[in-house]
Amino acid sequence: MELFTYNIEDFPLKEIVTKWFGKELHLLHEEETYEVFERKTDQKTKWHEIFYNNVRSSDEWKQLYKSFVSYVIKEVRYKGQEIVFQSIPTLRVQFPNNVGVGEWHKDKDYRENDWMPELNYYVPLTDAVGSSTVWIEKIQQTFREHNNSDNMLTSPDNPLFSLDSYYGDCWEWDGMNRMHGNVENQTGKTRVSFDFRVHLMSEHQDKRVNSINTNTPFTIGGYYEVM
Ligand SMILES: [Fe+2]
Repeated sequence: MELFTYNIEDFPLKEIVTKWFGKELHLLHEEETYEVFERKTDQKTKWHEIFYNNVRSSDEWKQLYKSFVSYVIKEVRYKGQEIVFQSIPTLRVQFPNNVGVGEWHKDKDYRENDWMPELNYYVPLTDAVGSSTVWIEKIQQTFREHNNSDNMLTSPDNPLFSLDSYYGDCWEWDGMNRMHGNVENQTGKTRVSFDFRVHLMSEHQDKRVNSINTNTPFTIGGYYEVM
């Protein structure tokens, strides 16, 4: 896993989302309160609806997101090779005293076996530190060994690592194979981030399964797009 930065003046991702929401992102909890999320509810807030509606319809977003993927990810991380990327990035909102994702998992828990080698990119639009960011295991374990989140947090064999970051940072990491999840946000501020997945076109295979949240097929033209 690796943390890198990009120029927020060239890629004003926070500004466009703030404009859509009409509220400072770290203060979203002032508008509406939600029960502690579970897997089935963590994408169901008012903010997710606004975000995905705009992402699907806004040419300004499409242009900005694609140029971010092109210049920050493809050119730098993949040396200009042809890549396949997640067309609609996933929004995460973690309110105070809540989690942003409803269950601890590896992304491969929701995929077929023999998935393409793929990396995740985590892009915070607010502070994302300590209890307000995603936590990942440092070493790879099977899901069954660590199905109990209480054990996961305390097991000396399975230390967790928080992807601490700020607006302008981006984490590249292996969400497919590393257990990850959230702890309760104790910072008093909402964390907003989005994330997306990328693999090389040369490794790509269209898959028959659909994504767990939006039921989108893992195909080019479905979940993915080529660049
Ligand atoms: Fe995940």
